[in-house]
Amino acid sequence: MKRCVEASAPGKIIWFGEHFVVLGRPAIVSAVGLYARARLCLSDKLRVVSRELGAVVSENYVDEAMKPFAKIIDLVGSMGFETRVEGVIESEIPIGAGMGSSAASSAAFAAALLALNDAFSESLVWRLGYEAEKIVHGQPSGVDTTASVRGGFIYYRKNEEPRSLGARLPENTVVLAVDTGVPRSTGVAVKRVLERYGRWESVMEKIYDAAETIVEEAVRALAGEDAGALGELMSIMHGLLVSLGVAVPETEAVVHNSLRLGALGAKITGAGMGGLVLVLADTRSSPRIIEGLSSESMSVRRIIPLSIDYKGIRIKHI
Ligand code: MEV
Repeated sequence: MKRCVEASAPGKIIWFGEHFVVLGRPAIVSAVGLYARARLCLSDKLRVVSRELGAVVSENYVDEAMKPFAKIIDLVGSMGFETRVEGVIESEIPIGAGMGSSAASSAAFAAALLALNDAFSESLVWRLGYEAEKIVHGQPSGVDTTASVRGGFIYYRKNEEPRSLGARLPENTVVLAVDTGVPRSTGVAVKRVLERYGRWESVMEKIYDAAETIVEEAVRALAGEDAGALGELMSIMHGLLVSLGVAVPETEAVVHNSLRLGALGAKITGAGMGGLVLVLADTRSSPRIIEGLSSESMSVRRIIPLSIDYKGIRIKHI
């Protein structure tokens, strides 16, 4: 019988500190219950297909989009392990939305390949996943790969070992990712923020200090499962992101309407200038918020209810 494995790895969402993290301030992220999966079987040849990318890697052919996976195959092969596998990679994480779909796909693939060789370890998956992310994003911070491998809420600061917060989402709360449908470029948004920082460093330093304080307060709010505090801190963080210049009318409409409809907090998540808004609501008011936002077709493309993933990567022998 063929030896086969399925590995699943979660996507992520940034709760606090996007952009500020670029200049060394802390951030809080969590893994979310949307997954990339790699289903692989040992074989006599190499052929792996990505369903979402419509692309393939085989012994003698690599689609451009599959280069991150080819890198993992090379690295695993150079460790003396078997890399002749057949299978598929698929993902339910929206692509290009800042939810870590590429990091999760790489982590799932690396985990499945290692598990087929009885060589799975979280640290090795992280290393391989991070090498693959470098091909996608140049100089990634590594936070996406960390969230995907570990799961849960993570405190992250550049050049420091990420810290698992061990926190849970406060009870009776609902988390929504509201997609404005406005395409965004992380690179363009980061450049815009850094330019404003360069022009107004004396002002910006105070805003960056405030962002850091918000993250420290959010760690306390999470530890105390204080949904009200968490929501309010999200809205304050959003105000700071507006001051960085990454708000657009669509994100503002979603934040404003979510709060008007009774959300506990709402903020841009990720790079901004479009993309996603993160909304925290209590269970009772969430149907009203979802209904109200759904009628805002000008600024809402879709609403994605999120659960938090506390487990990180998992392997199943199939
Ligand atoms: C983008 O998802 C998050 C940013 O902070 C950029 C980064 O951390 O590399 C805007």
